[in-house]
Amino acid sequence: MYQFHNEVREISFDNYKTPTPWMNYLSNGTFHTMMSQAGGGVAFYKSPQIWRINHYRFFHLPTDRSGFYTYIKDGEDIWCPTNEPCRNKPEQWKSTHGMGYTRFEAEKKGVAVTANYFVGKLENALIWNLKLTSKEDKTVTIFPYVELGMMEFMRELQWQCYNKHQLSAYALGDDILVYKYGVETQPKPDETPLVYFACNAPVASYDCDRDEFVGSYRSEENPVRVEEGACSGSTLYGGDPCFALQLNVELKAGEEKEINIFLGTAMTEEEILKCVAHCRENDFVEKSFAIVKEEWDTFLSKFQCEIPDKDAETMINIWNPYQAEKNFKFSRNISYYATGTFRGVGVRDTAQDILSMVPFDLRRAKDKLNLLFTQQYQDGHCNHYCFPTEGWEPVTRIHSDNHLWLVMTCYHIVMEEGKLDYLDEVVEFYDGGQATVWEHIKKSIDFCLANLGEHGFPLMLSSDWNDMLYKVCRKGKGESIWTSMQFGTVLPMIAELAKLKGEDGQKYLDIYETQKKLVNEVAWDGDWFRRCITDEGRFIGSKEEPQAKIWLNAQSWSVISKMGDPEKQERAMDCVKEYLDTDLGIKKIHPSMKDYPSKEDPLTYYNKGCGENGSVFCHANTWAIIAECMLKHPERAYKYYHQLLPMVAQAKAGEWRYKAEPYVYASNIFGPESDKFGLANVSWLTGTAAWMYIAVTQYMFGIRAHYDGLEIDPCLAPEMLPAKVTREFRGCRYEITITKNEKVFIPYEEGRTELKVEI
Ligand code: GLC
Repeated sequence: MYQFHNEVREISFDNYKTPTPWMNYLSNGTFHTMMSQAGGGVAFYKSPQIWRINHYRFFHLPTDRSGFYTYIKDGEDIWCPTNEPCRNKPEQWKSTHGMGYTRFEAEKKGVAVTANYFVGKLENALIWNLKLTSKEDKTVTIFPYVELGMMEFMRELQWQCYNKHQLSAYALGDDILVYKYGVETQPKPDETPLVYFACNAPVASYDCDRDEFVGSYRSEENPVRVEEGACSGSTLYGGDPCFALQLNVELKAGEEKEINIFLGTAMTEEEILKCVAHCRENDFVEKSFAIVKEEWDTFLSKFQCEIPDKDAETMINIWNPYQAEKNFKFSRNISYYATGTFRGVGVRDTAQDILSMVPFDLRRAKDKLNLLFTQQYQDGHCNHYCFPTEGWEPVTRIHSDNHLWLVMTCYHIVMEEGKLDYLDEVVEFYDGGQATVWEHIKKSIDFCLANLGEHGFPLMLSSDWNDMLYKVCRKGKGESIWTSMQFGTVLPMIAELAKLKGEDGQKYLDIYETQKKLVNEVAWDGDWFRRCITDEGRFIGSKEEPQAKIWLNAQSWSVISKMGDPEKQERAMDCVKEYLDTDLGIKKIHPSMKDYPSKEDPLTYYNKGCGENGSVFCHANTWAIIAECMLKHPERAYKYYHQLLPMVAQAKAGEWRYKAEPYVYASNIFGPESDKFGLANVSWLTGTAAWMYIAVTQYMFGIRAHYDGLEIDPCLAPEMLPAKVTREFRGCRYEITITKNEKVFIPYEEGRTELKVEI
């Protein structure tokens, strides 16, 4: 079904019928496309909710429609290089996802087509570069086609019957199609672009009216205009729009013909003319593609490894950082699973995503974190999600963890940079006024301190990291033991920053000690740590309880925070192994809940083994790996890491059970209490990407940035040894060879550009 080609950082597919669409993201930061192995997907300008260009139908059957298709009409034969959506299939076919591009290679009746799709830096456009060859002289007609949507997705769902008569699609000159979304009360009308469709070959005709092109009671599988061999020249002033071009192409035996198609955005018709002229320049496509390649090469070269475990190597060098960058860019907004309509930028999710960007690009990391600081209030708490592109009101629920993630991410930025400058950047508060980054993070701590519960742990508020814990705290009294551990993780960080700044750090360490005492005395259940306390004072995650007796995060974070007494940490992590581990990852809780804490008011509506109710929650597995490294258990850390490598888990579960991509992490895998144990769900956009990367690079390899230099504290199992790692750090390339688990510290030296380290 698939094959990795690591030398060129690609994965190829020899069958278009994967169990679910296996996606890639093509993007230049402004214009984005999510595209599947079969050519389905969605393009959008900046926001997938308000400036969505084409239709992508969630839950639709057949799945993965529509997309970016090119119909080839070769006599009576009609087929697509993407394989989909034609019923008639190519004789030979392969598709490939690479770093920022997706390519299709197909052949039928002596006509071979390569279609390479990417979004370049030089224009805001999805480019599809077609190369056609034929074994004999022939004329074929080709029809590039995109079904357009209404841009504002929710309005389309609710109001399309009226609003669609306010949009238009028409030709500008003879051969550029334009789509104008002119709907009343659309968000940000002045920033709404026009969409264009053009190519660099003579256009014989076109269609802008989808129903004209496709025909009645037909679909993308067999558009009537393609069958008839010619477009109708339709424009559309009201109705359902599309872009379709008709290109009559003469192929000479053995000669390659190259045609480029551009689906782009610009603000005015004049600008469109300029953009298209630019796109049509001779070397434009080649140059644009070279930049995509070069940017990814540079990005990924910052951390590369060579290890015996080749599956791990594939993830560490290529797909894990690639996936993490997509999370950084898209938060949890749009994927095959997430519709791109309501998630915006989540503060907690994004703060964690930034962690993986820190070693790659400090400026990008700082800018994103600054955006999150704009969601902080003067009292220190944060909005839960915000919508900076759409300009909507944020979701203002107060969760107990959001503000604390800001401290952690800020700390990592300072450690990577080895300078305190970032702490002096000034950012506004959401409720007025402004302060330095340093003041912002101090407020996070203040807020937590001001919101402790009866037992002394932080109040749960609208839930902690675990969204499903919102029910235990509806009366405002529930407390989170996990948040106490998160608090305990960041307190020493802010204490260190305070000392570096010449301020009092001790006060933070004192708070740490108080919380630590509570964790050991109140939260300890005999064999593990309990998870939280309900409004009524009931401890969740305890032996005494009938269900949800043990929770993963309360064990792993007792180690990460170093709050658990040493023997308690060990015992707690042994219990994780005993009660929660499976061969397909670690379950989040055990046993799953059915009618708990009461039949009338279950804590979660998730089926057993699904989502937060006993699935293998991959994001949380990463913390168990880190904890095992901190406890110096390399074999266990490796087991937990290796079993979740997507290609490994997929092979173990079986690809038709696992379903999701074998090259990126999923948010969760249905647990053993589900009849679909092993089904991977919500892939691509998940905190797993950032944290898995941190787990392996900073804890298994143990390469961690400190203020004064680089620490290498490996915790590697024999399967990962010997390891050769290249890590770029403050302008110096460290070539590190690790043959044993021994800690070294390399003080930072200014001006050094290369260093070999052997352990
Ligand atoms: C999802 C959410 C994240 C939350 C986690 C656990 O991954 O995106 O915000 O922390 O679930 O509930």
